[in-house]
Amino acid sequence: MPHAEATPSGAAPDADNREATPARDECIFYHVIDLPDEAATPGSWDFRDTEVEYHGGFEFAGKRVLEIGTATGSHAFWMERQGADVLPYDLTPRHSWDLLPAPVQDSRQVDMRMRKLIGEINAGFRYCRDRLGSKLSLHGGTAYDIPTALGEFDVIVFASVLLHLRDPMGALQRAACRAKTIIICDRYWPSLDNARPDAQFAPRLGDELPWGGWTWWYVSPKAYEAMLQLLGFTSFRTTVSGHLHIPSRDRIALYTLIASRS
Ligand SMILES: C[S@@+](CC[C@H](N)C(=O)[O-])C[C@H]1O[C@@H](n2cnc3c(N)ncnc32)[C@H](O)[C@@H]1O
Repeated sequence: MPHAEATPSGAAPDADNREATPARDECIFYHVIDLPDEAATPGSWDFRDTEVEYHGGFEFAGKRVLEIGTATGSHAFWMERQGADVLPYDLTPRHSWDLLPAPVQDSRQVDMRMRKLIGEINAGFRYCRDRLGSKLSLHGGTAYDIPTALGEFDVIVFASVLLHLRDPMGALQRAACRAKTIIICDRYWPSLDNARPDAQFAPRLGDELPWGGWTWWYVSPKAYEAMLQLLGFTSFRTTVSGHLHIPSRDRIALYTLIASRS
């Protein structure tokens, strides 16, 4: 049985297993990460040169950070190197992805495939963590249900996560009382009216699951700003930057909203 190591906050990291590092070929890597004495991981996104821009220039040193949806953990490891006290957090095979319904597909099969994939992504985090000698522990859970035992944070980061949630406002509502700063990164869609609170339901009938089942919303930064205003946030800063997407070999525009309350 994997043993769960208690954290300073008293909560057990339930996706973690300090006993054995998974084999590299048991892992799926979402991020390109440089590792000592072996090839970099073959991820879909390479933030190695753009971590600062992706996080809007936020100063993480000395901050307690909850990083929701850490995937392979490139951002968490980077924040750790900046001197932050980071708690990486993600789904595990025990938690289901917010899958879109599709009339012509067997959603149970898709759900099983997603749970397997999530386990392989968790393994990728642990592989990189151990190879990098990082001290971070991966905590399992959903964005809707951040365990109270984890305590409060200076910052909660939702980087490329809210677009995958059925209820992004619900997740923000749960997070808003746990941190004075929330950072949201999301795709910048020129087709939206980005000067206003605009959003679009992403899927079209006929999109293949799980691909069509991954993304619910295209959302302008002003829409998240409007949601966070309702939740008591008063200060907002948005930046847009390009990040290397490996499959398309293109730099994709993503925005970063830093929202704070007193
Ligand atoms: C597109 S990846 C983004 C990874 C990383 N945050 C980044 O910005 O590069 C989405 C991540 O969100 C996680 N995720 C999806 N639904 C979630 C949920 N309901 N609660 C918590 N995390 C979720 C996924 O498991 C995955 O790690």
